[in-house]
Amino acid sequence: MATVTFVEHSGAQHEVVVPNGDSVMQGAMRKMLDGMVAECGGGLACATCHCYVDDAWIARVGPASEMEQQMLDFSSNETRPGSRLSCQIILSDELDGLVVRLPESQF
Ligand code: FES
Repeated sequence: MATVTFVEHSGAQHEVVVPNGDSVMQGAMRKMLDGMVAECGGGLACATCHCYVDDAWIARVGPASEMEQQMLDFSSNETRPGSRLSCQIILSDELDGLVVRLPESQF
């Protein structure tokens, strides 16, 4: 299990407990958080699950794969150092306490 803190664009924070093996995107979708769309359901084909990993967690989460990076280029949101597609971040005990920020919109 990993507790993920989602920070919406409004500043509202939500702590969500997500089972190991699920993605950050799945955790956000279950709580229907603002700023998460995930049109393709995690298939790495939409870039509407863009999130910003908190600076303190970037190294532990690791970089985007080449394919993910290509999809991030299609995101309507600016790309920053912590940019990841949240469907590609799989949770484990090591990511317990992760903090991610969500954009105002995915379009
Ligand atoms: Fe479509 Fe992540 S949900 S790329």
